[in-house]
Amino acid sequence: MSVTVRVPAKVNVQLGVGGTRPDGFHDLANVFLAVGLYDEITVTPAEELRVTCSGPDAAQVPLDRTNLAARAALALAERHGRDAAVHIHIDKDIPVAGGMAGGSADGAGALLACDALWGTRASRADLLEICAELGSDVPFSLVGGAALGTGRGERLTVLGTGGTFHWVFAMAVRGLSTPAVFQEFDRLNDGVRVPEPAASRELLDALAKGDTEALAASVSNDLQPAALSLFPSLADTLAEGRAAGALAALVSGSGPTTAFLAPDAAGAERIAQALRASGTCRTARVAASPAPGATVL
Ligand code: C5P
Repeated sequence: MSVTVRVPAKVNVQLGVGGTRPDGFHDLANVFLAVGLYDEITVTPAEELRVTCSGPDAAQVPLDRTNLAARAALALAERHGRDAAVHIHIDKDIPVAGGMAGGSADGAGALLACDALWGTRASRADLLEICAELGSDVPFSLVGGAALGTGRGERLTVLGTGGTFHWVFAMAVRGLSTPAVFQEFDRLNDGVRVPEPAASRELLDALAKGDTEALAASVSNDLQPAALSLFPSLADTLAEGRAAGALAALVSGSGPTTAFLAPDAAGAERIAQALRASGTCRTARVAASPAPGATVL
């Protein structure tokens, strides 16, 4: 008996970052959009907790208890006074350390899969609470679609979307650490009063209407200067995508994956081909949004 859950990646169409809080986190106005690149998490009863991973980036995934999928299983087991004796297999298609919430997806997926396997029947509110303990982006991986994340990004308001958006994602040759990018943000803003972040009304309207051009005109990422400072050649990837017809080009989350909004599906294919041929990234993938959140298959 086993359970498989499919979980999407995300792109931040707005990542508004405020000042550092007393707990070291930053206040965010974070507009998440789930995109159709997925990890699949399969859980099977086992003698003891263990994690395995397959896929092109599998070698970079930690298989110990620092893995968010293992931590999710342990958190659920502890709440229900049971043993987390389960084999978690991650079939990984979301880039690792890429700014697309791949680790968060595995946490949300393992949580939902273990809940189904063990019949613990945790409420949606309990699942979301465990997700928020695991990491700022994990609740959104469970929910999917589109949402505004406030607080450290974990407090979600679901947003409406009026249509399909076509994206290209360029995977970089190496990863970036999220804490390092936030530290660089702090260094670049040293001595500056960072205003409180707020969601852009134009952006929320563009999402609600499914208006690609209006969305392209209003995307923003306050972490982009920090990601570019740590990884300057990402600017070349952004320029190649723009030259190939992207309506908007930005760093995805803390990077280093770069995201390109295409006018339509055919345009996305053309941009992806141009990016692959440019030599400025490891590979490029097309994906549509919004995508559903974690789903038991
Ligand atoms: O919540 P999560 O574990 O994903 O955060 C990873 C790191 O990113 C944090 O340790 C912190 O350095 C940084 N972060 C932040 N402010 C946020 C979210 C993350 O500074 N709102």
